[in-house]
Amino acid sequence: LKPITIAIDGYSSTGKSTLAKDLAVALGLNYIDSGAMYRAVALFALENGLARNGKVSSELIKILDSIDISFHFNPLTKKSDTLLNGVNVEEKIREKAVSDIVSEVAAIPEVRRHLVKLQKNLGKGGGVVMDGRDIGSVVFPNAELKIFMTADEDVRVNRRWAELKSKGYSPSFDEVRENLRHRDHLDSTREDSPLTRTNDAILLDNTNLNQEEQLQLAINWAKKAA
Ligand code: C5P
Repeated sequence: LKPITIAIDGYSSTGKSTLAKDLAVALGLNYIDSGAMYRAVALFALENGLARNGKVSSELIKILDSIDISFHFNPLTKKSDTLLNGVNVEEKIREKAVSDIVSEVAAIPEVRRHLVKLQKNLGKGGGVVMDGRDIGSVVFPNAELKIFMTADEDVRVNRRWAELKSKGYSPSFDEVRENLRHRDHLDSTREDSPLTRTNDAILLDNTNLNQEEQLQLAINWAKKAA
């Protein structure tokens, strides 16, 4: 199979990163989590007093160049960890404080321009699977395969809640639901590159599909696209 580019977009907690990682392993491609990059910028804003009460200071856009984001393969977990200015923040960027503010940060056009540039650069040689909200529409409009993921809200809330629980957090169901609704709303309605399904993206509703079933479907699509 030639090293194609695969763009996976969709709503929050639809299992985009799970499928993206599985596909990368199955097809020998490089997995890049674009959401982790927005989360790292949001964490930077929080740590530097640039985000309070759900509001992000415009000062953030002046110091974007001082935010270095990189990925480092972790042999223990066999996954890539996200580094913010050299510090491993893989756990921290998944915390509630970051989830609460990340979509506000991601709606800032300068932040998007900055990260899209990095993402295009990371994928310039091809052979990548990237997941996010604007990968098929903006980052890799020429990707050989585009997948748009969705699932019923209850299923998504359940999955996200279980994931947080397994990591030692104990959010209520309603808290998780509110955060998903909040992010999906902001992500779909922002002016700059909102979450949308492009005409050439295959719709994957995984409400009733398990991980293996989704992987097999996607591998078949990738084979046709290559
Ligand atoms: O993928 P994940 O849920 O970790 O992404 C966190 C947030 O980052 C999303 O809710 C969205 O606001 C933003 N994001 C984005 N564009 C991307 C990836 C993520 O706006 N390509």
